[in-house]
Amino acid sequence: MLIISDEDIEKHVSMREAIDIVEKAFREYAKGFVKMPPRSTIMLERFGGSLSLMPSYLEESGALATKIISIYPKNRKRGYPTTAAWIVVNDPETGVMEALMDATYLTALRTGAVTGVASRCLAPRSPKIAAVVGCGVQGRMQAWAMAEVFNLEKINAFDISRERIECFARELEGTLGIDIHISENCEEAVENADIIATATTSKTPVVRRNWLSKDVHINAIGSFYPDHRELDSEIIKDAKVVVDSREAVLDEAGDLLIPIREGKITRDHIYAELGEILLGIKKGRTNGDKLTVFKSVGLAIQDSSVAKMVIDKMRKR
Ligand SMILES: NC(=O)c1ccc[n+]([C@@H]2O[C@H](COP(=O)([O-])OP(=O)(O)OC[C@H]3O[C@@H](n4cnc5c(N)ncnc54)[C@H](O)[C@@H]3O)[C@@H](O)[C@H]2O)c1
Repeated sequence: MLIISDEDIEKHVSMREAIDIVEKAFREYAKGFVKMPPRSTIMLERFGGSLSLMPSYLEESGALATKIISIYPKNRKRGYPTTAAWIVVNDPETGVMEALMDATYLTALRTGAVTGVASRCLAPRSPKIAAVVGCGVQGRMQAWAMAEVFNLEKINAFDISRERIECFARELEGTLGIDIHISENCEEAVENADIIATATTSKTPVVRRNWLSKDVHINAIGSFYPDHRELDSEIIKDAKVVVDSREAVLDEAGDLLIPIREGKITRDHIYAELGEILLGIKKGRTNGDKLTVFKSVGLAIQDSSVAKMVIDKMRKR
């Protein structure tokens, strides 16, 4: 059995490879070659956290894996990550356990990767200015993925913690070689952006419709509880909304469930799943689209597909 650390994955898997493998997984999902029960979550209200189990099997890729993920937004103060995860990979033929791996880095990588895939389908042509709201672990990968698929000139960064934006700017200017602008508030960060990623732990909207005047695409990845959201109802109402999975977002995504409860939209407002666009069943961004939103709650297929690629690479080495 292979034991694989976050450091191994960081060293051996690039964002480009993660984007390609995650895109393949979404195609497989849209073709119906995937087994993926809904995420099973235990809420630990007393400690302000949650623990989820995420199994999936991708038939074409032969990837069978289960992720355990904990989300504890107050953990930063304790010196632990907000999002921490582990994956068990099994051989689909025998069920034998092939690998046990850290998946904290992998989770951030695959969450960035799906933003890369969705942004290629939905962003306005040749975006130059990106905005990242929430400069934590996921925010870094959101920036990396957008920079990987587009030739960006600038990334506006905003977080409620000035210290975190400054750290984000220092780190990413070095690694991505793109100008990172420290925004004083969220409105300033998003108003001129062509593409936005929200990756916060906020329970209430961080981006407002009336701040957006240009044609823009938003990747909203931060919230996956029914009563939390990062975008206001007006954004969702005006946007062409694409999701990772209809079933999953209608179960978990406050970004959509709250406007549905308010009567602002119905379930039919969801235009497509990402896989449907990748297979050409539905169109991605068209010239008439002013505002597009990709809402991702995160699917187990992203984890299993990347985990399989990791063990294939490790075995070769
Ligand atoms: N969709 C997915 O697949 C997926 C995967 C992993 C994590 N997540 C979610 O992403 C979120 C971020 O996770 P992380 O691991 O990066 O956490 P993190 O604690 O490292 O970063 C979150 C950042 O958001 C900032 N923030 C909180 N409220 C804000 C606000 N109102 N405006 C601006 N910034 C704000 C915090 O200061 C912090 O820097 C979590 O809610 C987590 O559940 C989603």
